[in-house]
Amino acid sequence: MSGVERAVEGVLIAPSILSADFAALGDAIAAAERGGADLIHVDVMDGHFVPNITIGPPVVKSIRRVAKVPLDVHLMIEEPDRYIEAFAEAGAAMMSVHVEVLPHLHRTIHAIKALGVRAGAVLNPSTPVVALEEVAGDVDFVLVMSVNPGFGGQTFIPRSEPKVRAVRALLDAAGNRAPIEIDGGIDAHNVARVVACGARIIVAGSAVFHTADPERATRDLKAAALSGVASPA
Ligand code: DX5
Ligand code: ZN
Repeated sequence: MSGVERAVEGVLIAPSILSADFAALGDAIAAAERGGADLIHVDVMDGHFVPNITIGPPVVKSIRRVAKVPLDVHLMIEEPDRYIEAFAEAGAAMMSVHVEVLPHLHRTIHAIKALGVRAGAVLNPSTPVVALEEVAGDVDFVLVMSVNPGFGGQTFIPRSEPKVRAVRALLDAAGNRAPIEIDGGIDAHNVARVVACGARIIVAGSAVFHTADPERATRDLKAAALSGVASPA
């Protein structure tokens, strides 16, 4: 079962290696997996869509060889259509693309699916939920950015909570049980709230890797996230 199907029933933790030591990614991934990571979130940045530059398909391919859990690849790049095949070949199990750069979002989502990869659409904090309306029945998951993308360690934007609820309502109205992922400023203190709003895939970078014990931080985050499932949405 892919990460997406498991997220329909439970809450998945997806540590973001953006905040890990890039010289020791294998160790970082192993620690997160020992702590119960369900996915590894990989942030791809091109220096155009976002100010930062990170990694490309060769690194994803190497990570794929050592990771036991599926790779969730978040493309923060201007022309994702040019690269989706390369990231699929590199081993992405899930791939998300930003609606802000895609005039033909429907086509891109189906192109990702045709490669056998779960397709997600991402909304920046300033992008309204209505931007997803016409593809609400097509997406395998939706990623709500709760910071402006580009860097780890930023502060969670509170407006993201009603936004997650609104995305859930939109997907439900389309009859799509696709899970909602949330990314940016998530930690053990606020994770239960976003889960209660309907988020089911939790990305966390600094809250996992900027700690003395990433294994324990992953475990603690998961326990805190699960406490949100029982809370009223
Ligand atoms: C930000 C990235 C995030 C980042 C999150 O642009 O998309 O995945 O790693 O980092 P934290 O959890 O530190 O906000
Ligand atoms: Zn991300």
